[in-house]
Amino acid sequence: MEGRDLESVSSCCLNETEGNSLPSRLDAAGFVAINTIHCKAHYTERFECLFCSRAKMIDKMPGFLGMNVLKSQSEGEPYLVVSYWETESHFQAWVGSPEFHEGHKRAFEDLRKAKEAGEEPPMTSDFRTYSVLTR
Ligand code: HEM
Repeated sequence: MEGRDLESVSSCCLNETEGNSLPSRLDAAGFVAINTIHCKAHYTERFECLFCSRAKMIDKMPGFLGMNVLKSQSEGEPYLVVSYWETESHFQAWVGSPEFHEGHKRAFEDLRKAKEAGEEPPMTSDFRTYSVLTR
């Protein structure tokens, strides 16, 4: 395909200004951060409990639109913590904020304790960032 002229697809949804879903707060999302968390088997219950009673500090951050924690249907696969933002700057402001640290207090404490005990971390995390291409 490289180097050849491709016919434009006029019906492509990427050319539409209107989305095709129901209106929601997430329509304002221009930026998505996905944190992928691998948990050790013994830690998954604790991990899920932390999120059931999460700090919700993030909920008051400007530009924050919502989040989901996704649990894989395949055993042993990582959890995805998906957060939706108006812009990348809103997300960056959260990552550097006291609310980020407050929202991770228990998680970071668990990591610290494991380290002090000379154990492997109960979870590892890796995040990627995305811009919203289409809805
Ligand atoms: C070492 C890195 C990280 C680990 C191990 C980790 C793990 C966790 C855990 C276990 C919680 C639940 C905490 C609780 O309520 O007690 C949490 C909260 C959260 N994490 Fe992380 N996280 C990390 C970094 C990040 C990053 C970089 C992002 C975004 C890309 C993120 C997104 C979130 C969100 C949106 C919440 C909810 C915060 C709130 O309710 O205020 N995390 N994280």
